[in-house]
Amino acid sequence: MTAADAPELDLVEPHMLGFLTQLGIDVEYVRAEGNTLWYRDRDGREIPVVDYAGGYGALVLGHNHPELVATAQQLLADGTPILAQASLHPYASRVGAALNTILQREFPGAEPYFTVFANSGAESVEVAVKHAELDRVLRVQALFQTVEAETERARAAVAAGQAGDPAEFDRLLAEVTAHNAELAGRAPLFLTPEGSFHGKLVASVQLTYNAAFRTPFAAMAAPARFVPLNEPGALAKIVEAERVSARSLAVADGTVRVVEHEFPLFCAFVLEVIQGEGGIRPVSEEFAREIEQVCAEIDCPIVVDEIQSGLGRTGAFFAASHLGLRADYITLAKGLGGGIAKTSATLIRAGRYRKEFELLHSSTFAKDTFSSALALRVLELLEADGGAAYRLAERSGERLLALFEALRREFPEVVTDVRGRGLMIGLEFRDQSAATAAGIREAAQSGVFGYVLSGFLLRAHRIRTFPTASAVNTLRFEPSVHLSQAEIDQLETALRDLCAVLARQDEHRLFQG
Ligand code: F0G
Repeated sequence: MTAADAPELDLVEPHMLGFLTQLGIDVEYVRAEGNTLWYRDRDGREIPVVDYAGGYGALVLGHNHPELVATAQQLLADGTPILAQASLHPYASRVGAALNTILQREFPGAEPYFTVFANSGAESVEVAVKHAELDRVLRVQALFQTVEAETERARAAVAAGQAGDPAEFDRLLAEVTAHNAELAGRAPLFLTPEGSFHGKLVASVQLTYNAAFRTPFAAMAAPARFVPLNEPGALAKIVEAERVSARSLAVADGTVRVVEHEFPLFCAFVLEVIQGEGGIRPVSEEFAREIEQVCAEIDCPIVVDEIQSGLGRTGAFFAASHLGLRADYITLAKGLGGGIAKTSATLIRAGRYRKEFELLHSSTFAKDTFSSALALRVLELLEADGGAAYRLAERSGERLLALFEALRREFPEVVTDVRGRGLMIGLEFRDQSAATAAGIREAAQSGVFGYVLSGFLLRAHRIRTFPTASAVNTLRFEPSVHLSQAEIDQLETALRDLCAVLARQDEHRLFQG
């Protein structure tokens, strides 16, 4: 398990390597298939590990799915052009069409959605955010045209002596102009629930709740208002406090009046239907309805980030379909490339789509044939046999949930909560920062408790899972849909042992086991 033949000084993020070594998870995996990863022990024997981390949720179909490997091999064997920008992209087009077929099934009567491809999750969020900002800026321009036209009509009426004193008009006009200029200079405002994770690029990291990730870069992009998750009335209150109006002047009953026009300050409401990195926290039905209602009132587009929850792992292709939550934008990544290619997609509802965006945004690698052909095969595999994969995700998820609930009942002093749906489940352990065992207490106080649990499960039971980075006491489980009963049994033995070790504060076994 040691990095025996690693160079003396690794020049790639060497401090991260130190962290992995300290926790005993500095393993080099040499082979992967389905839910299994293998490493070599000191004698060169391959040791299997059951992978519940699932590539941070990217391995919905498992490692190296044979059909996807065959697709990749065939593309290369055929000499398929992988990069031929500014030409036809039939695979990408078929992915766009297939996604719309799925959308129609899960959201009956949905409008068409246009697809913009990118290469990673955060990039697809940035596409959504950029598009929403373009749309907002164009709406602001249209609003100011209306405001100016209305004000011009008032000016003409005043000049014709039909609407009071010209000096009073000029005074009002100066006020209104200054007010509108202040609005025009404002940064757009995003709304997103507390606990959100939408990536770590310049704009998306401002939508990521964890302050450690976000605040150093706050000056670089538009800010978000974080809304308490699932708290009734909180969103409406925040919106009420932030809402602003542009002003025009109009004549009514022979006098000039100031008229208020809702100003599109809010660029987008961005949410995960089940928060992933924030600790596997589902959005409630009531919260979803409130988001729809408030966003409709202020004409704020809804971006549903399905990067982690999408591609079938919750028992439906889109997790938002369980809530009937209709988005203006949907982001997909992770599993879309089948665990082999890196690709992502932003779906944009036709009614919101701005054709100008196609000339304003691009990427060298987006829509490449390799990742698009794999994405198409992924969709075919998920949709095969009437969506058998979704039923597998649902069934295995129910088994895992039942197991975790049983552990919670059995070890209430160790396990505090079980959350999630399908193959996106979090198991929260009780905070140990006041534990009797000094080693456990210190690990908890320094924020690495979850990683200590990961290290134990790996060393003692050949189980791979991680805490979510922003909820370090929550282990997350995101295996592929092809999860076997034997793999679940192995997890049960491992977790039962872990809970017993924690219950008796056996730090020797926890750190050495
Ligand atoms: N949105 C969600 C919901 C995510 O879970 C992630 C990544 C991203 C966006 C960013 O995607 O890494 O491809 O740029 N989540 C990882 C995680 C890091 O811990 O689950 P990316």
